[in-house]
Amino acid sequence: MAESMQGLHRTCRCAEVTTDMIGREITLMGWVQKARNKGGIVFVDLRDRSGIMQLIFENGSIDEEGFEKAGKLRSEFVIAATGVVEKRGGAVNANLSTGEIEMRVKNLRILSESEVPPFPIEENSKTKDEVRLKYRYLDLRRPDLQRNLMLRSQVAMLTREFFRKEGFLEIETPTLCKSTPEGARDYLVPSRVHPGSFYALPQSPQLYKQLLMCSGYDRYIQIARCYRDEDLRADRQPEFTQIDMELSFVDVDDVIDVNERFLAYLFKEVLNVEVPLPIQRITWQEAMDRYGSDKPDLRFGMELHDVSEVVKGTGFAVFKNALDNGGSVRGINAQGQGAMPRKKIDKLVEFAKTYGAKGLAYVAIAQDGSLKSSFAKFMTEEEMDALVAAMDGKPGDLLLFAADKNKVVYDVLGALRLEMAKQMNLLDKNVYRFVWVTEFPLLEWNEDENRYQAMHHPFTMLMDEDLPLLDTDPGKVRAKAYDIVLNGNEIGGGSVRIHQNHIQERMFEELGFTREAAYEQFGFLLDAFKYGVPPHAGLAYGLDRLVMLMSKMDSIRDVIAFPKVKDASCLMTKAPGAVSGQQLEELCLQIKEKE
Ligand code: AMO
Ligand code: AMP
Repeated sequence: MAESMQGLHRTCRCAEVTTDMIGREITLMGWVQKARNKGGIVFVDLRDRSGIMQLIFENGSIDEEGFEKAGKLRSEFVIAATGVVEKRGGAVNANLSTGEIEMRVKNLRILSESEVPPFPIEENSKTKDEVRLKYRYLDLRRPDLQRNLMLRSQVAMLTREFFRKEGFLEIETPTLCKSTPEGARDYLVPSRVHPGSFYALPQSPQLYKQLLMCSGYDRYIQIARCYRDEDLRADRQPEFTQIDMELSFVDVDDVIDVNERFLAYLFKEVLNVEVPLPIQRITWQEAMDRYGSDKPDLRFGMELHDVSEVVKGTGFAVFKNALDNGGSVRGINAQGQGAMPRKKIDKLVEFAKTYGAKGLAYVAIAQDGSLKSSFAKFMTEEEMDALVAAMDGKPGDLLLFAADKNKVVYDVLGALRLEMAKQMNLLDKNVYRFVWVTEFPLLEWNEDENRYQAMHHPFTMLMDEDLPLLDTDPGKVRAKAYDIVLNGNEIGGGSVRIHQNHIQERMFEELGFTREAAYEQFGFLLDAFKYGVPPHAGLAYGLDRLVMLMSKMDSIRDVIAFPKVKDASCLMTKAPGAVSGQQLEELCLQIKEKE
């Protein structure tokens, strides 16, 4: 490595030193992880992003002045050390790749000193999140975070390489855009030159990439930063990164094909994991019916059973009312959980209520086959037996039922299925189960605004055979939209786009736009379609989510260098912050007190 500094040349990184180099003189640079002074001898664990190498300073192998300096080394000092690689004198450390060797230092230079850091730089830190995020530059020194960001960099590089070979062009699109009314809330940027006007930061490059197809670029890819002002969760940040693509002259299968090969390539290269192709596909309706979720975790079964037919006509009012109101009764079988204490079942009931359930009916099957249930008193013995049989209930099982409108039943049982899997330890982070969810509904009803909104986005094509339904039963129209789901996480989504103006106009109409409003907001797209547009389709991955799962983390915060916290602020820089009166003046803005 040809790095040089103040006349010193670093030979390699710490963990790149191998037994082959025994006897060679080398120079290493890095941070002191730990210094132990044992009288005539000082041991230092030297750390850089590659790992750790043990240095040994012994009076005699290094001059008096150097030895004295070694005695002053403290954690996080930055040093350069030159010496000879040797076989370890002490015990071998099997936890380190450099555990059989050490470096006997001849020459030490302290490049900078460190105050005592506010928390130890170590793997699996126990320090509170808030403290670590305030000192994120120190937190980022920890080996787990460094591994995550190195993996992220590798994923980005392999992505570019793969798609370049597949004929994609990398093209940048603007981040100062026009605000459009669909989707999440925009982040706005005031214009100085046009007082009272605002740019919006892009929620995704969606319209630009479609226009690039109109312009004949054929296949586009971008690792794009996106911004959405929505409530944050473990898998959501206000700014995040997409692997965004669009392809011309294609249909659903073409997009799926290239992306399956991409995922297989990526997982093989990075994790040495084989992704069996083709990846399973299920329709949205099937995903809801079997798993209660449009992003089902297929690492385990515990599928939903629709028992509406079985309980129809029984005396239990809760079931009867749900069915009378057009809903359903469905259940899951938590195998082997029949001995769950009452208190714990009550907790499950509370859990179900946070997902909108009015209650949770259960049947616990004892080892002797006898039943304990919250509603047996309303049913005959035969009815109970039929219900247990429909759920494939065996001695030792716990059956959980939700009765309500379908949407509530799906939400409740989908969440409960995951909760039970967590409790039963069924979620193995080393297993990667992919699934495509296809044929999403085109529209979903927005209760608050009393109108339909696009489930994916307004530019998504409907399934050809459903076109007539748009006039008669819009809620039933299915879209040529697909999500790629990994272990219960939506890691990407996309669709075939509308490329015919009359359908796009009809879609805007369905979403409640007048013709004028549609042209006012999206005129450039509708105009572009007048001049020759290829059929096109695309997809975008959430890069952060993908890397989170590949590095087996629980939050995308752990794979983003400088993330924000729940209230969208940065604890390190304290963004967002106030700006000066002059800045506001230039923008012709005035701050109103919040009521
Ligand atoms: P969509 O809105 O589904 O599609 O976004 C694509 C993927 O981006 C990820 N994602 C997020 N990741 C972190 N934080 C967030 N706040 C966040 N929001 C979304 C998800 C999601 O699957 N233009 C379309 C794509 C297309 O149709 O081609 C789009 O943006 O993993
Ligand atoms: P109740 O007759 O209201 O005491 O309810 C009897 C049992 O049915 C209790 O275990 C409730 O938790 C459960 N329950 C109530 N509402 C529902 C519902 N909508 N779906 C499933 N179980 C319910």
